[in-house]
Amino acid sequence: MSEKAVLVTGGAGYIGSHTVIELLNSNQSVVVIDNLTNSSYEAIRRIEKITEKKVIFYKVDILDKKALLEVFQRHEIWAVIHFAGLKAVGESTRIPLDYYHNNITGTVLLLEAMKESQVKNIVFSSSATVYGDPAVIPIPETLPTGATNPYGRTKQFIEHIIRDLCTAEENWNAALLRYFNPAGAHPSGTLGENPLGIPNNLMPFLSQVAIGKREYLSVFGHDYETPDGTCIRDYINVVDLAKGHLAALNKMKDGPGCVEYNLGTGRGNTVLEMIHAFNKAVGRELPYKLVDRRPGDVRNLTANPAKANAELHWKAEISLDETCASLWNWQSKNPNGLEDCPGEAPAESVICYI
Ligand code: UD1
Repeated sequence: MSEKAVLVTGGAGYIGSHTVIELLNSNQSVVVIDNLTNSSYEAIRRIEKITEKKVIFYKVDILDKKALLEVFQRHEIWAVIHFAGLKAVGESTRIPLDYYHNNITGTVLLLEAMKESQVKNIVFSSSATVYGDPAVIPIPETLPTGATNPYGRTKQFIEHIIRDLCTAEENWNAALLRYFNPAGAHPSGTLGENPLGIPNNLMPFLSQVAIGKREYLSVFGHDYETPDGTCIRDYINVVDLAKGHLAALNKMKDGPGCVEYNLGTGRGNTVLEMIHAFNKAVGRELPYKLVDRRPGDVRNLTANPAKANAELHWKAEISLDETCASLWNWQSKNPNGLEDCPGEAPAESVICYI
């Protein structure tokens, strides 16, 4: 086991929890923090079951700098993987200040705490949403960014903040990972996406149609310039995505400075293709209705992942069929996600000064 640990913020969330599993499976020391507002402590218990390892966990909010400093003091940390943040596009248009405060102020406080603790490596959870409506498909990292909603702008601004820091100060390294559309669940069937309330995203919604929680899927728009009129996205398996973070951490050791990477498969699929792929996993035709476009959606977001493939020696490997099968495995075994499980973190894990 390597001596110094990786701090994972938002490690109880969907992508965070899968990344913690991959870190533990590769024998890295990990410290997880999460404020559990949008996730459940049960995810930590399930990580422990899957990996048969104890997870070092603190219930900490990234807005609580004193608590962050305490975590850095208690553990020797060499790098941070930063997932913590609010992530719903629609909500971000209704409560933009909450998004700017949580995501941007929270990240600035985290970076300050890192600086004061002499930790200078960060892997940041960005999003393909920073490209807005891209002029080139598949999208290279060199395209200009131009997010179209407050959530996306928090990702874009944070990228700028981290880049400025790496320019201003010596020996900082950052990987800004622009995720395309994460999908699927852990192959164990015990961990997956756990949306609270009505899911905003396609695959969690579709899987709730499959278990009978929702009547049908509304397909947003069928008049886009695509082969079947529905939008194209690059759906990447969450385990492949998690492994991308380990590859990015490895890159930190070369001292790359600040680098952006697209984490996607390079394969685009329409909404109707996704429904058909998921139907195959479930074994029946799920009901859907073609409805109007959703405001803010763009025609096509497909990654050119060549830079990550070459520089991180990483490639998405899991097929779409496997991704759909893993999602169905998780959803059918956990129809209510982690909702039914006790969510309270142990009292001794709480560090709170705000
Ligand atoms: C969305 C966010 C993106 C964020 C990502 C996180 C928007 C506009 N974008 O991406 O910023 O980083 O989630 O996961 O919300 N669809 C339907 N019916 C549904 C849900 C979705 O037809 O009920 C369609 C959408 O129109 C889209 C595709 O499915 O074409 C994927 O949608 P979604 O899963 O919400 O992801 P994005 O919109 O690509």
